[in-house]
Amino acid sequence: MNQKFIRKIPLSRPEVDEATAEKVSDVLRNPILSMGQQVDSFESEFAEAADARFAVAVNSGTSGLHLAVRLLGLSHGDEAITSPFSFVASANCLLFEGARPVFVDIDPDTFLLKVDQIESAITARTKALIPVHIFGNPVDMKRIQAIARRWEFGVIEDACEALGGKFEGKALGSWGDFGIFGFYPNKQMTCGEGGMVVTDNERFAQRLKSLRNQGRSPSGDGSFVELGYNYRMSEMTAQLGRCQLEQLPSFISSRQQVEERYVSLLSHLEEMRVPPIPKDRSPFVFIVQFKSKELREKVRADLTEKGVQTALYFQPIHLEPFYRGRFHYRPGQFPNAEFAGDTCLALPFYNRLDEVDQKYVAECIEDSLVKHRKKSSISV
Ligand SMILES: Cc1ncc(COP(=O)(O)O)c(C=O)c1O
Repeated sequence: MNQKFIRKIPLSRPEVDEATAEKVSDVLRNPILSMGQQVDSFESEFAEAADARFAVAVNSGTSGLHLAVRLLGLSHGDEAITSPFSFVASANCLLFEGARPVFVDIDPDTFLLKVDQIESAITARTKALIPVHIFGNPVDMKRIQAIARRWEFGVIEDACEALGGKFEGKALGSWGDFGIFGFYPNKQMTCGEGGMVVTDNERFAQRLKSLRNQGRSPSGDGSFVELGYNYRMSEMTAQLGRCQLEQLPSFISSRQQVEERYVSLLSHLEEMRVPPIPKDRSPFVFIVQFKSKELREKVRADLTEKGVQTALYFQPIHLEPFYRGRFHYRPGQFPNAEFAGDTCLALPFYNRLDEVDQKYVAECIEDSLVKHRKKSSISV
């Protein structure tokens, strides 16, 4: 049988070395497998790395966002202003408490919510801002803070895609009342699943610890003092997180190299662009943007055929079927987010992606663009 060799390049691939695997399996020999010394150590090491006084480990970024919404006291009828161009969890976290996301469109270059449009979206019900550092791109946190102070809003910084990045020299995640991080396997570091909430407020930190553990009293008397959740982190997860955190600087510098190589391989191509890469970004994914949705779909199909995995980051939240159904959003309401959703494509991106595979990805894109250019000139 003549089977053609097809290279397979995944979208992402976590880096977990042997020493880490051994340390994680060593944890299994201990009597405590959840919420023990590994979790405590992970929290204090993370707080230091993230420039925060306190860090509280949870079982996902989504859980962390939910607890932050809860602690700011948002409930039925309240609103928070956020970006429609994000992963759905940054808006869903409000719905868990009966609050509602109010979207502001994004800047077409940075994909970040337009800070200068926030004030026009404020209503009597607005209680919080949820800036999202999408793709690791830093939101202008000074301006967010200024608005939050003027209106007395809480700030939940969704830094799930931005671990290790900075704005004006200060760590992303450390600007808001809460900074939330996620450790899904495509992130700068992973725990398989997991999340971390950072805050400088001791009272918030204590309540986060109580709420993640079913609302148990911080006094340690075993009583349940409020409605809580099981958002706990296991010891194995925390050990994995500690090993990954130690390697984070080298992970980020590998990702920066991969990013630089893509920029030089792809910047010259016509009918698509490499969006600007902000200073101090910690790279999460690598995005290219095509002139049209039609072209993006054609190139994507060609890449899939050649074994190159890609993803659509993101279909805007307001156009997800659930949001359309519940809030009656329609296309055209946030045009920049919609255009980005129609035209952006995430390419394979991970620490150990090598030059040979990156050149292959770039060649596949170029071949596809040339092929479709020829086709369209024939049909004219
Ligand atoms: C911007 C953003 N917010 C929130 C989350 C949710 O994190 P998790 O998947 O850990 O729940 C993610 C994860 O992909 C994300 O990218």
